[in-house]
This record gives sequence, C-alpha cells and structure tokens, in this order.
Amino acid sequence: MGFKVGLLGLGTVGAGTVQILQTPDQRHPLLTELEIHKVGVRSLSKARDVSVPSSILTTDLASIVNDPEIDIIVEVMGGIEPARELILTAIANGKHIVTANKALIAKHSDEIFSAAEKHGVYVLLEAAVGGGIPVIEPLKQSLCSNRIQSVMGIINGTTNYILTRMVNEGAEFADVLADAQRLGYAEADPTADVDGGDAADKISILAALAFGGRVDRSQVSCEGIREVGRSEIAYAEKLGFVIKLLGIAERSDSAPNTLAVRVHPTLLPKSHPLANVNDVYNAILVEGDPVGQVMFFGRGAGAGPTASAVTADLLNIAALLKVGRDCAKQADGTPLLDPLLACAYRQEFAIAPLETLESKFYARFLTQDLPGVIGKLGTCFGDHHVSLESIVQADKRDGLAEIVVVTHVVKEGDFRSALAEIEQMNVLSSIASVLRVLPT
Ligand code: NAP
Ligand code: HSE
Repeated sequence: MGFKVGLLGLGTVGAGTVQILQTPDQRHPLLTELEIHKVGVRSLSKARDVSVPSSILTTDLASIVNDPEIDIIVEVMGGIEPARELILTAIANGKHIVTANKALIAKHSDEIFSAAEKHGVYVLLEAAVGGGIPVIEPLKQSLCSNRIQSVMGIINGTTNYILTRMVNEGAEFADVLADAQRLGYAEADPTADVDGGDAADKISILAALAFGGRVDRSQVSCEGIREVGRSEIAYAEKLGFVIKLLGIAERSDSAPNTLAVRVHPTLLPKSHPLANVNDVYNAILVEGDPVGQVMFFGRGAGAGPTASAVTADLLNIAALLKVGRDCAKQADGTPLLDPLLACAYRQEFAIAPLETLESKFYARFLTQDLPGVIGKLGTCFGDHHVSLESIVQADKRDGLAEIVVVTHVVKEGDFRSALAEIEQMNVLSSIASVLRVLPT
C-alpha cells in the first residue's frame, strides 16, 4: 500500500522535494511508497525545474486538500493566506501535514496544532528552521529530557550569505542579495530575510519547542542587517569580532515563565563556535541540563537541503501510517498520536522586554574633534551605570572624530538612557551605529 501526497507549491522547495521523490535509488526504501498525487501551483504554463505530468498539476488548491485519496499534504507555497486556510481544511479532512512555512507556524501554531490534535493528525515542520539541518525533531525527541537553558543560532541563510560576502569580498549588499535570490535562498519578499523577520519566526518556533510553551511572535523584537555597513565590519575585525545575525532565546531570570527572545546583528568573538559559520550555512547552539552544549550545523536554505528536511518528515509520517500506530484510538475516537512527534504546548510564556535584558554593547560616535569629548562620553555612561570595557578614538572622518565604545555587560535600559543623554550633547554629530556584543 502506498501513500498519496498532495503538494501545495512547486517552487524552490517543492521542486527539490519532487526531485528526491522521483529519484529514490540509494535513499530510504519507504520513499518508493510515496506517490505524488496532485501538485498545486499559481501558473500552469511556467517552466519548472522538475518534470511532473500535466495531469496532476492544478491551480485549484482546494481540490487537493479536499481530495479523499490524499493522505499527506506538503505545504511549500509560503505566505499566510491561503496557506493557513488550506492547511486547516486538510487537517479537518484528516490529512497529515508537512510544512516549511515558518512565517505561518510562528504566527498561527496554536490554531494549527490544536486542530491537528483534535483531528488526530501530525503537523511536521523540520524544514521550517535551519533548512537541511535536523533541529526540530532533535529538540522534540532526542533532547526532550533536558532542561533547556538557551537556544541561539544563525538561522537565516540569506543574511549569513550576504554578511559573509561583504566580509570576504567587500561586496555590495544589493548585489549579494540578488545572488541569494537567484540561488533560491531568499524569501519571496526578501525584506523578511534582511530585516530579521524570518529569523524571528524561526527563533519563536525553536523557543516554543525547546521550552515547551506558547511564544507570542508579535512580542519578539527583531533587528536586521541593513545597518551593518563596511565601517562596522571593519571595526569588528579590528576588535577581534565577526558580525552575525543571531536569533537568541533563553530563560529570563526577571520573572517566572518568562523568556528573553530576540533577533539582532551581534558581534561575536572570533573564538565563538558560531563565528566561523559562513555563507548559506546555519548553526544552532542549544544548551541544556544535563547535556551541556549541542551544536547543529548545515545548509540553512536552498532547494536540496530544505527538501531533505521535507522528505524526512514525509517518511516519518509514512512510517507511522505503515505500522498503523495512528490507528490506536482514544476514548473519544480520535487517533492516538505519538507524544514526541506531535506538537503541543504545556504553558504560555511571557517575553521579557528588551530594556530589562543584559548585554555588552558596541557603539560608534561621530563627534567634534575637541579635547574632553572622550571624557564626557565616559562620564555620561558612568552616570547611567554603564561600565566601559574599551573606548578608542579612531581616524578622523569628514573632519569629525570617530569614537568606538565597547561596554561590559550592562542593562539595556541603562545603556539606552545613556545614549539618550549623549544624543543631546552639542559635541555629538551622530551615533553612527549601535550593536550588541556576545559576552565571552
Ligand atoms: P517559491 O519558490 O516562491 O515557490 C512557491 C510555490 O508556491 C510556487 O510554485 C507557486 O506557484 C506556489 N504558490 C504560491 N502561492 C500560491 C497560490 N496562492 N496559489 C497557488 N500556488 C501558489 O517559494 P520557496 O522558496 O519554495 O518557499 C516555499 C516555502 O518554503 C516558504 O514557506 C518558505 O518560507 C519555505 N522555505 C524556503 C526555503 C528556501 O530555501 N527557499 C527554505 C526553508 C523554508 P508558481 O510556481 O506557479 O508561482
Ligand atoms: N529565506 C530563508 C533563509 C530560507 O534565507 O534562511 C530558509 O528558511
């Protein structure tokens, strides 16, 4: 008996998935039991990277999620609507779901997982975070007896690719973004990559799974890489750092059931395990008790790696269907789901406000080149309980002095109030850049 798959989308990830399903040789034998039954697209006339019979291509996606013959829906179309509505209909029709759609899961997981539980189906999302890196199922299963303390990582391939080429080649941001789009790494709207929204979706998902609770994505702050220019890259290098866009989630000491979850460009010491993760590669560093540090590394975007994760989820569901485990019924008749594979929230988390978090900061000021300016800055920081690790005056730029400050670990609120006072100083021309620094 085979399993019929309905594919919503045949773009980068959809085509990569078809490519694996059509070439099962030397892969897992269960792949041969998966049959692509229908494929939903926007345009029937578009040239495709893979060949599928025209008889199974359709623009009527509702006909796929309502097709009684289909067992598993693979949603690789992206966006919120109509993907959300189609997935909910498929679930109501008793179909299992595999999705790569982190934007949808980050914002609507509650509704989707509740519906899945009600109808006794699985919603698997390995491809939603880290492309080809197995991290979702390891968090749900292999690491699930740990008390997780933190999850942090480089979880956007497009921005890591851009930053790496800016560092290595001095390449221009816009040119490298166009290459990332051509290579299939970027989202349909690449502002989600560049402005940190995609990474914020992913860290929200990782936090929810790692800490076992609901995370309100709208409370997760995100800053992208637009402000990271040549000067910051050069100063980071001089100071012994590299700049990476990090998603960070950790338990907060400030209140119970509270997490600190955010995305921002970060100066990492060159010795940090994430500092040498370059190009489209992603890496996720998990810290748990008692396991300690575990790092996951691999290609974070692109057709092949992402399809590897999609097809792994497909095989997981096919394996469960094959051994008939989902045939076990609960008292109300709902199929009994594998508790490690199904997603469920055990609690609701609050997100700690940024001002309450502690971090080291890097800031670059352009000031008048007058005696006493460094002293004024130092005094102002001191008045706001911000202790400085270093303060250096670099070359003059357009007749202005360039002063670079790195703080010790300080409260963000204190640092911001010092900046607000510095902004009023008449010797200041501009605060050219403010970035966070990961403590060693
Ligand atoms: P894509 O190349 O833009 O492909 C999207 C596909 O969905 C296309 O085939 C498109 O049809 C179809 N589609 C979209 N909206 C539709 C609609 N309203 N009706 C019918 N068909 C529709 O996107 P992708 O890069 O494969 O990404 C797909 C999903 O995977 C997204 O959620 C993305 O975030 C996620 N993801 C992508 C990557 C990656 O590296 N690209 C990695 C991980 C996760 P047409 O082809 O006819 O236009
Ligand atoms: N646009 C995403 C990225 C795709 O660049 O990481 C993988 O989720």
